[in-house]
Amino acid sequence: MKRAVIIGTGSALPARVLTNAELEGMVETSDEWITARTGIKTRRIAGAGEKTSQLAAAAARRALALAGLTPEELDLILVGTITADMTMPSCACLVQKELGAVRAFAFDLNAACSGFLYALDVADKYIRSDPDLKIMVIGAETLSSRVDWHDRNTCVLFGDGAGACVVTGAESNGNHQRGYLAAKLYADGSLWELLHLEGAPGHNPDLPGAALTAHPSIRMYGREVFRHAVRAMADAVGKVLADQGITPAQLSLVIPHQANIRIIRSLAEHLALPLEKVYVNVDKYGNTSAATIPIALDEANRQGRLAAGDLLLLCAFGGGFTWGASLIRW
Ligand code: ACO
Repeated sequence: MKRAVIIGTGSALPARVLTNAELEGMVETSDEWITARTGIKTRRIAGAGEKTSQLAAAAARRALALAGLTPEELDLILVGTITADMTMPSCACLVQKELGAVRAFAFDLNAACSGFLYALDVADKYIRSDPDLKIMVIGAETLSSRVDWHDRNTCVLFGDGAGACVVTGAESNGNHQRGYLAAKLYADGSLWELLHLEGAPGHNPDLPGAALTAHPSIRMYGREVFRHAVRAMADAVGKVLADQGITPAQLSLVIPHQANIRIIRSLAEHLALPLEKVYVNVDKYGNTSAATIPIALDEANRQGRLAAGDLLLLCAFGGGFTWGASLIRW
């Protein structure tokens, strides 16, 4: 039986590095506070030529190169994002244009920080119906454009970037059930207010008094988000492992959403996993929402941290709330 396998990864980050020291000059904060509470030291901030779609396309080109495919061979482009360049067209359509992926249909998926996990699961379902499909799955964000740079509760946390992978169907590798094994995905919209980003308001002259917020920014109840994130991710991970009869000790690498080093450490503790088995780059890039997992996946891949047969666990939590975990045999 053919399963969805990842045959190429890529990532792209803006050139501009914003340090904690620079943030000290922008809001009342300190490198010590940010480092101790989040583990973040620097993040990347998009500039000219680095829109979400442009970062996404750059990451996709690198993934195509590793996969040995041309853009014309792609059948579908899926982008997990909450910061598309425009409401319409989708970021995925702009990536299709940038790449010249003329045969591909394309759409975005909004699941906030869980966007890449959700998109990968959608790709798996398409591969199940046609294993010959070649699908580009991307997580891409420029959250710097949606952050209130006067709000120290949020502006220190986020960064910009994109990660991508090419997925297609492949036979098992010897004895190994290679590929995408399983996922558990969840949502709880009743808690939306704890972490949200209002969209650009519509203009309806028949609605007097409708307050127009020209530049909506991320709003977050950090402590509550933290509490839910730890519990929900641990629960999803436990369920996907139990479902597959796999113990945490059998995992070769865990790539968690990179929001906060304390959330990552809590998860590692819960799984009784040594931190060496948990990929961490939140110190360099901060929280890039849907992009954190595919950026980390690309780094791990290029560092040779993934060998054939390795069990890889991905897990995420984000606005919605949305969360989940997925298990891949590399
Ligand atoms: N610098 C200095 N002080 C700050 C800053 C800052 N940047 N931000 C907040 N503070 C202050 C607060 O005002 C508060 O001061 P007070 O006690 O005088 O009122 C104090 O620090 C403690 O604030 P808390 O919010 O309780 O601090 P906490 O230890 O919870 O850490 C943090 C805050 C880092 C946001 C944490 O709650 C967190 O990481 N939550 C998860 C949120 C997250 O990662 N969201 C991203 C999207 S969802 C996701 O990706 C998982």
